[in-house]
Amino acid sequence: MKKIKFTNLFALLPEKKKIVSKIITLIRNSKFVGGEEVSLLEKNFAKFVKINNCITVANGTDALEIAINSLKLKKGSEIIVPNNTWISTAEAVVTNNHKVKFCDVNLDDYTICLKDLKKKINLKTKAIIAVHLYGNPANMIGIKKLIKNKNIKIIEDCAQAHGTKINGRHVGTFGDLGTFSFFPGKNIGAFGDAGAIVTNSKKLALYCKRMKSHGALKKYDHMFSARNSRLDTINCSVLNIKLLHYNKAIRKRNLLANLYFKELKNLHQVKLFNLKYKNQSTFHQFVIRTDYRDALKKYLLKKKIETMIHYPYMLNELKFFKDRKKLNNSNKLGQKILSLPISEEHSSKEVKYVAQSIKDFFVK
Ligand SMILES: Cc1ncc(COP(=O)(O)O)c(C=O)c1O
Repeated sequence: MKKIKFTNLFALLPEKKKIVSKIITLIRNSKFVGGEEVSLLEKNFAKFVKINNCITVANGTDALEIAINSLKLKKGSEIIVPNNTWISTAEAVVTNNHKVKFCDVNLDDYTICLKDLKKKINLKTKAIIAVHLYGNPANMIGIKKLIKNKNIKIIEDCAQAHGTKINGRHVGTFGDLGTFSFFPGKNIGAFGDAGAIVTNSKKLALYCKRMKSHGALKKYDHMFSARNSRLDTINCSVLNIKLLHYNKAIRKRNLLANLYFKELKNLHQVKLFNLKYKNQSTFHQFVIRTDYRDALKKYLLKKKIETMIHYPYMLNELKFFKDRKKLNNSNKLGQKILSLPISEEHSSKEVKYVAQSIKDFFVK
């Protein structure tokens, strides 16, 4: 078996010739900022998510920052963020001058733990950011039940969950706003940084649209002092083409994930996802949990299998965040989790080899 890369972004690229030809046309016509490709992506992605508005932005972190900003919460408001997520989720709260409160994650799908969330919600809570981590949907129905009749806003961080659903409904449509990243390694990735915000609210959409472009909807129409977080034309054109192929990619990721489930289910030393909503994850990552993580990672590398860790630290372990209270499930979780190779370019044969190698490690 040749080396199994964790990801091979070039191999993942569909319709390479079409993409190159599109980019050359845009360069030839000097189309770099704004224009048809941008509005087309906003239309296409909104249609894909089945939501009224999509606003493209420069990256997923900006998407979170602008989404939080659009809620116009009082300075210093408390916002609940899961402890296991990429740093941006919490950073965006800090850059908006609000307070981060970390909530534990559950050990079934690693999204926000509802039992802990119930304890964390108090009169100071103004918003919750639910993260659909690894492509697994957080329990939005449960979260909404918990905040019923309370004035608490919800942002869904869908950076890792394009196309993830709950009972057939796309994530990003349950809260006030949803945010996405199109970082190159994400399930739908651009040729550099890229992101988007989605919402059904016309008012929030208009605000985000102005916020990402100097407070203006069109040239010189500034209504307030804002920022520049536009997504460039070339990247929008790449994403327009990639989006056409994405449903096929989701099906392949599900097929490979099911293979991992089947092959590893009897291995008691390894904990697999226990998904509440079947067949609705998009498996951005396939994460296993084991007390022998470091040794297993080393063994797999010897077998030429690349793995990664998402993430080696929990956010409450980072010194500069003020909320550093111990949380039971996520305590030292970064030392036990391991992300196995999964993408539409991996083959069933490769996944079976990875699974067999894991089994070999535990019998040796
Ligand atoms: C859960 C989560 N939130 C936010 C982000 C931020 O996205 P970006 O890297 O595009 O700024 C990422 C991407 O790394 C992410 O995984």
